Amino acid sequence: MAYDETDQRAIARSYDAEYAVIRDPSGDRAFYADLARETGGPVLELACGTGRVLLPIAREGIPCVGLDHSPAMLDVLRSKDPPPNLELVEAPMTDFNLGAGRFRLIYAAFRGFQHLLSVDEQLATLACARRHLAPGGLLAFDVFAADPARIANDRAAQVMRVRFRHERWRAGVKVSDEATEIEMRWFWRFELEHLLVRTGFALEAMYGGFDRRPYDAKKEMIVVARATG
Ligand SMILES: C[S@@+](CC[C@H](N)C(=O)[O-])C[C@H]1O[C@@H](n2cnc3c(N)ncnc32)[C@H](O)[C@@H]1O
Repeated sequence: MAYDETDQRAIARSYDAEYAVIRDPSGDRAFYADLARETGGPVLELACGTGRVLLPIAREGIPCVGLDHSPAMLDVLRSKDPPPNLELVEAPMTDFNLGAGRFRLIYAAFRGFQHLLSVDEQLATLACARRHLAPGGLLAFDVFAADPARIANDRAAQVMRVRFRHERWRAGVKVSDEATEIEMRWFWRFELEHLLVRTGFALEAMYGGFDRRPYDAKKEMIVVARATG
């Protein structure tokens, strides 16, 4: 994972303002909230960040746990006065223990899974999620559909480097200007299917948008899988 603590603070400070514009219109919050209602909870979000997606679900009264390894992101979530049915855990998604067989839905919204650069990290996270799911429970996450024009960085490792510039303006005056950089792993669809089967899941659906249209290799690759066995 490519964030250091300074990057995390910079990202956390501006996260909600930026993602209200660049992510909320995708409809991802309604998609994960619908899954949470369909399963009834309890729900675990891996890499929950500031609670952009999880907090509205918790506010419906569904028992929720939000896990993230960034204290800065969790601090922002705590500042939003989360309800008592939302428990927060600071831990890496590759290695956590919250009690086996507990959740009906585990999800990672907005590219959380793409912070797992190596196959070992991906398998460890999926295995950990599988252990925490109740029989027949659901796993869901979204990654971007790899666009051949944008995956040029490191095609051997399937990792791309993404740079952000966070400018804050007040009354027409720039008050801060920070740059951050992260690395993101990109995936092919059948690679994800193989990872899922290796860790005890059966693919239930692969969507190309949060309106549940079939996967079309254009923008989103949204996975819904069920725990098997
Ligand atoms: C783009 S944000 C997504 C936050 C939230 N899911 C959302 O949709 O707004 C990515 C989050 O992943 C977290 N993260 C990255 N790698 C992680 C890891 N290995 N374990 C736990 N959290 C991780 C970061 O701290 C950050 O909060």
